[in-house]
Amino acid sequence: MLSPLTGAAIFLVVTIEPGGEPVVHDLLPDLAGLQRSVGFRLPEGGLTCVASIGSAAWDRLFSGPRPARLHPFRELRGPGHQAVRTPGDLLFHIRAKHMDLCFELGIQIMTRLARAVTVADEVLGFRYFDERDLLGFVDGTENPGGRAAEAAVLAADPHFAGGSYVIVQKYLHDLAAWNALTTEEQERVIGRTKLSDIELPDDVKPGSSHVALTTITVNGSQRQIVRDNMPFGSPGRGEFGTYFIGYAADPAVTEQMLENMFLGRPPGNYDRILDFSTAVTGGLFFAPPAGFLERPPEPPAGRAVPERAPAALTGVDVPGGIAAAHGPVVPDGSLGIGSLDRSARS
Ligand code: HEM
Repeated sequence: MLSPLTGAAIFLVVTIEPGGEPVVHDLLPDLAGLQRSVGFRLPEGGLTCVASIGSAAWDRLFSGPRPARLHPFRELRGPGHQAVRTPGDLLFHIRAKHMDLCFELGIQIMTRLARAVTVADEVLGFRYFDERDLLGFVDGTENPGGRAAEAAVLAADPHFAGGSYVIVQKYLHDLAAWNALTTEEQERVIGRTKLSDIELPDDVKPGSSHVALTTITVNGSQRQIVRDNMPFGSPGRGEFGTYFIGYAADPAVTEQMLENMFLGRPPGNYDRILDFSTAVTGGLFFAPPAGFLERPPEPPAGRAVPERAPAALTGVDVPGGIAAAHGPVVPDGSLGIGSLDRSARS
């Protein structure tokens, strides 16, 4: 979550089928190995994958303590716009310089999970010119870096130190309406200049601008999150979007930003970016630290992980026969190679 912005990303949100929990539980310790196997084919490609777990799924997967601030995404109904909650148990945020690496890791994950999960949403994001979104503005400038980024995203919870809360929303833009504005009008919606990406002075920047409403200061210090938004879309379908993803040490910070945007600060003074951007998904997840995923806690009582996940739920095929095209998957659902071989781990 702290790695630098990449050229490509896949945002994969799935729900767990009833009975699919053992397959998911089984995959988690293998994720790092899958990432290594795919990433080693192009080491300079910087492949990473952050796996996050939703509130309801957490209790289906694990016994023991749960992240203190993990809860379902809170819907917001503002005067003109809504932040909707949509289904999602697991989020895989796959990033690399090139889409081929993301795509291949996505295939390997879905090969393992096929039939145990249903895909709720999948977005393939790309970098657009100088880090611009499809509204034409540079996106990500004021992200914290270094120590400030660590402080912004790493949860303090002693059981889950190094983990992070993540909120995602998929936005679709009305580009026809947006492009009907002059550049100066667009700049007042965002709160920054378009070409040079400079924040507008306070006496020019409207209180309803995106930057004004997402800036939160408590006792003189700014409360920050780390964003890794990506443009996505389809020229053929006329679909243009921004996938918002924000990591935070405390989800309340991102939630406060959402309240400012949708309900308004003061109430009614909502974010003008929403007049041109509709949130069509919404989810809150917790990304546990790597050590947790390597050795996840036992499943809750009554949900023991079988020695072998039920054959009907393992990823022996995926839609379109992708698994077949990518070599055999052994019956226990692992790839049967190196550290991924379950027998080698036990
Ligand atoms: C349609 C979706 C969105 C688009 C296109 C968008 C775009 C932008 C742009 C262009 C900037 C200014 C440059 C920068 O500092 O990154 C910005 C800033 C920012 N955005 Fe968004 N954003 C979106 C949604 C969100 C959401 C949902 C949140 C939080 C819940 C958020 C939080 C922020 C924050 C914290 C800043 C930096 C404010 C500052 O300190 O100056 N954004 N966004």
